Amino acid sequence: MGYSIMTDGITKSFGENKVLDGIELKISGGEIFGLLGPSGAGKTTLIKILTGQLRQDSGAAFIGGIDSRRLSGEDRRRFGITMDNFGVYERLSCYENLKVTAGIYGVGKAEIGKVLGKVGLSDAAKTPAGKLSKGMTVRLKLARAFMSDPDILFLDEPTSGLDPVSADGIHRLILSEKERGKTIFLTTHTMAEAEKLCDNTALLNEGRIVEYGAPEAICRRYDHQRMLKIHLTDGTDIELPHSRNSAGTIAELIGSGRAETIHTTEPDLETVFMELTGKELSA
Ligand SMILES: Nc1ncnc2c1ncn2[C@@H]1O[C@H](COP(=O)(O)OP(=O)(O)O)[C@@H](O)[C@H]1O
Ligand SMILES: [Mg+2]
Repeated sequence: MGYSIMTDGITKSFGENKVLDGIELKISGGEIFGLLGPSGAGKTTLIKILTGQLRQDSGAAFIGGIDSRRLSGEDRRRFGITMDNFGVYERLSCYENLKVTAGIYGVGKAEIGKVLGKVGLSDAAKTPAGKLSKGMTVRLKLARAFMSDPDILFLDEPTSGLDPVSADGIHRLILSEKERGKTIFLTTHTMAEAEKLCDNTALLNEGRIVEYGAPEAICRRYDHQRMLKIHLTDGTDIELPHSRNSAGTIAELIGSGRAETIHTTEPDLETVFMELTGKELSA
């Protein structure tokens, strides 16, 4: 098998609502995989199935080679999860929150200080979790996911609702876990995040994966969307298709001295998603 996470034809409906329709994934060890899709696409549902919190209707998922329907408590220690419905104890301090986790996983208390340091919460060890900023709360949730030093991390929209600086801090934590050889399964509805972090990305739309691969490779496949952006001396910009048909206009703009700079713009994942689905990705 060899894959860290593999799924074969996962389907799941809630009543009449078919949320996942034949999901096929192959995620190698040490990779950051990003599941990208708009709100309601089924991202959280898939994470719940992969981590054994929810049963699929058909198909199978294997996490570290084990069927997700047969994960034991010991197996679960090998992965860390952050998601919205895994709350923190607001009245307990950061340290006390992690003490609870350490107890569950049978991890020594010495680990708590180390993990707090790793996520940058040493100074907030005694702060009640309810008093933390949004970014710090995410750090605490990550600290909890890191406690058992798991091989696989499932992070459900870890930067949702964070300002760019806080999000960047979380990105760095995720990347340092990758450097330590961890496999990271991440969901996001921001294409910029996927482009920045992910080795591979799947675009999920209406229960199906509509594109799969490295972000740059996906974007290259949609290269017909490449545009030329021409900045004019009068301060305005115009965009032309990157094609032979634009040559006359460009020659004229250069000849008349009106073109100041010309750039090519590659399509980004957001543009690709729009083309595939007719929908915008960002909420
Ligand atoms: N427990 C549930 N019961 C009924 N419908 C659900 C349940 N969980 C999720 N859904 C529906 O499944 C769809 C996908 O939800 P979700 O997996 O949370 O999407 P995402 O995480 O991509 O925003 C939505 O239409 C949602 O309303
Ligand atoms: Mg979700």
